Amino acid sequence: MPQPHLFTPIQIGKLTLDNRIIIAPMCQYSAAEGTPGDWHMIHLGQLAISGAGLLIIEATAVSAEGRITPGDLGLYSDANEHGLARILQALRATSPIKIGMQLAHAGRKASSRAPWEGGAQIRPGEPGGWKAVAPSALPHSPSEDPPAALDAAGLKRVREEFAAAARRAARLGLDGIEIHAAHGYLLHQFLSPLANQRSDAYGGSLENRMRFPLEVFEVVRAAFPADRPVWARISATDWVPGGWDIEGTVALSQGLKARGCAAIHVSSGGVSPQQVIKLGPGYQVPYARHVKADVGLPTIAVGLITEAEQAESIIANAEADAVSLARAMLYDPRWPWHAAAKLGARVKAPHQYWRSQPRELKDLFEDAKFGAR
Ligand SMILES: Cc1cc2nc3c(=O)[nH]c(=O)nc-3n(C[C@H](O)[C@H](O)[C@H](O)COP(=O)(O)O)c2cc1C
Repeated sequence: MPQPHLFTPIQIGKLTLDNRIIIAPMCQYSAAEGTPGDWHMIHLGQLAISGAGLLIIEATAVSAEGRITPGDLGLYSDANEHGLARILQALRATSPIKIGMQLAHAGRKASSRAPWEGGAQIRPGEPGGWKAVAPSALPHSPSEDPPAALDAAGLKRVREEFAAAARRAARLGLDGIEIHAAHGYLLHQFLSPLANQRSDAYGGSLENRMRFPLEVFEVVRAAFPADRPVWARISATDWVPGGWDIEGTVALSQGLKARGCAAIHVSSGGVSPQQVIKLGPGYQVPYARHVKADVGLPTIAVGLITEAEQAESIIANAEADAVSLARAMLYDPRWPWHAAAKLGARVKAPHQYWRSQPRELKDLFEDAKFGAR
């Protein structure tokens, strides 16, 4: 019997994924000065044995200033790199899963409390807080401390920070890099007229607003081995009239494609508290479909994709080439096994767990065999 679409391999650049289930990047706000610890070992460890085709490590800041919260993961120091090396060594020793990392800069949404502490801004001068940087000196919401607008030297520094983090990611042996240009963080701030009111070559026209994100893509692409993919996560709309929209998203995706981008991960929102999001199952899939049809790069859909049959139909109907799941993977880290069981597919599982294969699903795990004397 042929595998269901969800469980067929896919190419992201030269990287082959065993199936089209991707674990979306998820901040854990649990690092110390950017360095991961035991939580990351446990968290990423359980996701690595999930049977998904790709694990994308959470938004990883390219500088201390670019962290959303003081607990964000980073890749800007030797200590960060060593901490990640320890975790990746353990993941590699125990799982064949492909592993990517999301490189990020929070821009004006930096210096925030963790969600479980309320998520509000930590003002500069308060313990743990710092002055954020952004395209323009416009705060995310009016009552907040405004960020400092990046000047030419600041833009150069941020580009160099992205490149340096990409070089560290290469040394760590990561299989791919996702550039975070979504959810109202720095690169999305450049794209959106709601956050970018610059009057230089980086603001105003669509071409100018795309300039910095495209420059960042170029430096990351150049700093990462050519045989490993670099792709981008984009918000397809701000959900605010006069904000960033799907036409800009298609233009940006085409610009990225021309520069060697391997895929587009289509999300939405995050740049403005004014956003009015129409939530529902697969609510961002129509945007992925639009990008896939107009741009032709491998396209990843995300957002309230929770059911195996739903994921299968997204791929079968060519709405996207892969799906990514965040909350559903935390709720059920064996989601790919359960999806394979429902759809009649086969999935990789660690040999230590082969005996868990249910009686009625004797062919669920690839290569499973066991004996005893
Ligand atoms: C705990 C948590 C952390 C998240 N962190 C990130 C992140 O680091 N980078 C990112 O682009 N999106 C992040 N997101 C958004 C998810 O990747 C995803 O786009 C969103 O949750 C919608 O997908 P879902 O309905 O499958 O959860 C996070 C979401 C959750 C629930």
